[in-house]
Amino acid sequence: MKGKTPKESHTIMNELVLPNDTNTLNNLMGGRLLHWMDIAAAISAQKHCNRIVVTASVDNVSFKHSIKLGDVITIEAKVSRAFTTSVEVRLDVWAQNIPSGTSVKSNEAYYTFVALDKEGNKINVPELLPETAEEIILYDGALRRRQLRLILGGKMHPDEATELKALFFSVEK
Ligand SMILES: CC(C)(COP(=O)(O)OP(=O)(O)OC[C@H]1O[C@@H](n2cnc3c(N)ncnc32)[C@H](O)[C@@H]1OP(=O)(O)O)[C@@H](O)C(=O)NCCC(=O)NCCS
Repeated sequence: MKGKTPKESHTIMNELVLPNDTNTLNNLMGGRLLHWMDIAAAISAQKHCNRIVVTASVDNVSFKHSIKLGDVITIEAKVSRAFTTSVEVRLDVWAQNIPSGTSVKSNEAYYTFVALDKEGNKINVPELLPETAEEIILYDGALRRRQLRLILGGKMHPDEATELKALFFSVEK
């Protein structure tokens, strides 16, 4: 199967924060943002896999700034690494307030998707071929993030997480 570059899965999605998206403080609800991020990430994963994909996991997401009613959300997604049947998608989220001319980065996150065939069986995905220095850093780090999420999901024993453990033992005393 031919490998693909992160560029080929690059996806940008915009949303306008409307009253039905906010809490009683007129701030965007976290769950709504996670939903939009899931859609942008799924589109990106589908571009890479050319298949239907399902969300396997969402890594820890921190909400650094509140996002206001009327702000424009921009979600950028691209595949950071492909494994056997799964892909990791990196997301960057910005909130722009057009009248005041300000824009803040509000979130970064990783979503994992599994590709399925028409019968709903897991299927192998194309390899990811990182090109830029930034893409290579994301690609390398994906192995550790995968091990952490599989341990947390009860799918891997910590003893098997060699790359993750190496992080803790590589610091010289
Ligand atoms: C995700 C799903 C396809 C995994 O299937 P499974 O048979 O349990 O998983 P396996 O242990 O065989 O792993 C299959 C792949 O999923 C990955 N995976 C499984 N659990 C994972 C998790 N918690 N986090 C990240 N990746 C995970 C595995 O690493 C593996 O990837 P690889 O083939 O690239 O190595 C299955 O659990 C499923 O269909 N879940 C529901 C998906 C869904 O409906 N999502 C929407 C939620 S509302």
